[in-house]
Amino acid sequence: MKSMKVVVPVLLLAGLGAGALASAAGITPQSMADALHMVLDTDRTVYTKLIVNRLQNEEKVIKASEHWKEDKALVLPAQMFRAGAEMTHDKGATFSYSLLSLWPVNKQNKARTDAEKQGLQYVVDNKGKNFYAEETLGGKKYFTAVYPDYAVVPACVTCHNGHKDSPKKDFKIGDVMGAVVIRLPLDG
Ligand code: HEC
Repeated sequence: MKSMKVVVPVLLLAGLGAGALASAAGITPQSMADALHMVLDTDRTVYTKLIVNRLQNEEKVIKASEHWKEDKALVLPAQMFRAGAEMTHDKGATFSYSLLSLWPVNKQNKARTDAEKQGLQYVVDNKGKNFYAEETLGGKKYFTAVYPDYAVVPACVTCHNGHKDSPKKDFKIGDVMGAVVIRLPLDG
């Protein structure tokens, strides 16, 4: 019955939230959020550099458009990110993530909770640093991590500065344009 020893703890862990799961495995909520962020941020940069910036800005082969379906265009980096967040949610993930900004093109992407508002301001004021907080939402405790989102290629800046709905028109390369917010449940 050796296998039972392995099966039981795995079943127990499956019932816990991401935060509880992380601490049960000896990983802190922060290190789990940091690891998730590293993958999300890398994929986001790869898509922006290798697909959008190369094909739209450098080789001028195809454009990226928020109306990508009608325009037969590339999905915007932010739409790519949200599509992943929604699919992850649909798969039943206990954690969630979003891309927000103090200057959102899409008003849906503004900060809502106190931790989001504080975090967005913090990553703009303290370049290179992340913001971590615990918050209670709807009676549940969460670990919330806020990571700066940088203008890594010219396409980020040109598109936002030229967008009719952008409240800020003077972004420069290297600026913090917004933030990735990752939320892990702590209660299990
Ligand atoms: C071709 C245009 C385009 C490019 C390129 C682009 N963005 Fe955006 N970005 C948008 C639009 C439009 C939205 C709103 C999309 C939505 O939520 O449906 C958005 C959303 C965002 C948001 C969420 C807040 C908001 O403004 O709504 C952030 C942060 C952001 N972009 C940063 C970046 C960064 C950093 C890059 C480069 C890595 C980048 N964008 C590249 C057009 C663009």
